[in-house]
Amino acid sequence: MYTTHSEVDTGSGVPVKEPQRQLYYIELIKDIINKKENETGRKQLMYVNTFGCQMNAHDSEKLEGMLLEMGYGRAEKETEADFIIYNTCCVRENAENKVYGNLGMLKPYKKKKPDTIIALCGCMMQQSSVTDTIRSKYSFVDIVFGTYNLYRLPELLYSRLTSGEQVCEIMTGRGEIVENLPSVRHFRYKASVNIMYGCDNFCSYCIVPYVRGRERSRRPEDIIAEIKSLVADGVCEVTLLGQNVNSYGKGLEEKISFAELLRLVNDIDGIKRIRFMTSHPKDLSDELIYAMRDCKKVCRHIHLPFQAGNNDILRRMNRHYTKEDYLGLVEKLRENIPDIGITTDIMVGFPGEYNVDDTLDIIRKARFSGAFTFIYSKRNGTPAAVMEDQVDPAAVKKNFDSVLGEVNRICAELNLEKVGKVFEVLAEGVCGQDERLLSGRLEDNTLIHFEGDHSLIGSIVNVRVTESRIFYLMGKQEDL
Ligand code: 5AD
Ligand code: SF4
Repeated sequence: MYTTHSEVDTGSGVPVKEPQRQLYYIELIKDIINKKENETGRKQLMYVNTFGCQMNAHDSEKLEGMLLEMGYGRAEKETEADFIIYNTCCVRENAENKVYGNLGMLKPYKKKKPDTIIALCGCMMQQSSVTDTIRSKYSFVDIVFGTYNLYRLPELLYSRLTSGEQVCEIMTGRGEIVENLPSVRHFRYKASVNIMYGCDNFCSYCIVPYVRGRERSRRPEDIIAEIKSLVADGVCEVTLLGQNVNSYGKGLEEKISFAELLRLVNDIDGIKRIRFMTSHPKDLSDELIYAMRDCKKVCRHIHLPFQAGNNDILRRMNRHYTKEDYLGLVEKLRENIPDIGITTDIMVGFPGEYNVDDTLDIIRKARFSGAFTFIYSKRNGTPAAVMEDQVDPAAVKKNFDSVLGEVNRICAELNLEKVGKVFEVLAEGVCGQDERLLSGRLEDNTLIHFEGDHSLIGSIVNVRVTESRIFYLMGKQEDL
């Protein structure tokens, strides 16, 4: 699934405006790639390796879209590619370590095949400590760029291909939003759509606002136009993406809230399901809860990270809500949207968090149908990194295990309650583990594998749950 673009005139100089400028460079690279293919007698291949969150996964779809448009094919594995790009994450230290680990393995490959171009981009590159390390210890890397200028890949690659020099471009300040560059989708029937970039919340542990910059919302008409073109291409489920979707609209000329945007998307013909993530509890308005209740296509699911249960910890995390506020929101959501699935992010071991009693209390009361659990990771440059009472890792591990145990116990209970009942499922594709089964999700986002004909892929099917596991369900298509 791949969107191409109209003819570009490469005869009248380099366009100043975007996206025309990058489309111009794509055309120039096409010629270079063509020549290489004629010389070598084989297709030039690329490999995009994505680390981190859904936002990065979606950015990688844009990188791949541009590379395919240039004429690259997809390599099955890294070590077959002529162009390798890592789209990096730095939210926790282990994400960074993974990047360095993989990069270490690329060094001998680059030695053997010096024509291979290696590029690094994304969140990690926005930190000067990282770019310094890359320059000194990983000098075989050809192109380095950050999160603000992802759309400039064609120009940067062209510069590397023609100059032979290392190219490094890290931007700061306000990022430009560039519409209408090529993109691919990894799924036929579902797609992610950015509605905003960046984050203004500055939770005290989090590096994201520093590496993804201030909040910038896309114009509603651009979002709607993108969704309409996705629908025309067969997509029936969209996920609206942003670091904090509830504060969508800030800074736009036209006054619009996220709840209003949801209602506009709900009115688009052909869309069957609408999801969104991530929501911040401090901005979860009644207006949004009512929009979720009223809009039939909006899935009964919300991802609402609470991070920690203790009020003192929440205050020092700069989260702007209390345990009681959070539980109040959960109650309001359940009152207005019966059967809603609530999922969350939980962090264990923030400075000063020696016990997780309040966190466990929230888990028991809110009864999450899923949770991402993380051990706090110290990020240099954030206020939490210089807080005094960093917790001993052994104590953190014990607390983490009890949080995980409780989350899993409740997920399993919720899944067990579903056995015997019938749910609507969007059949997303063939199950990775067993070709005879299809995989999809319930409205509340629970994963299910079920017996059903392949012709059902892309439609919403009634499925009876036959078995439950901690993280997923098994089922059978219900005869109508
Ligand atoms: N350490 C551990 N987890 C973190 N997250 C963000 N910053 C850190 C950190 N320094 C988690 C939060 C957030 C999710 C995307 O990543 O739980 O919601
Ligand atoms: Fe990080 Fe907080 Fe922004 Fe989420 S809301 S990206 S945790 S600063």
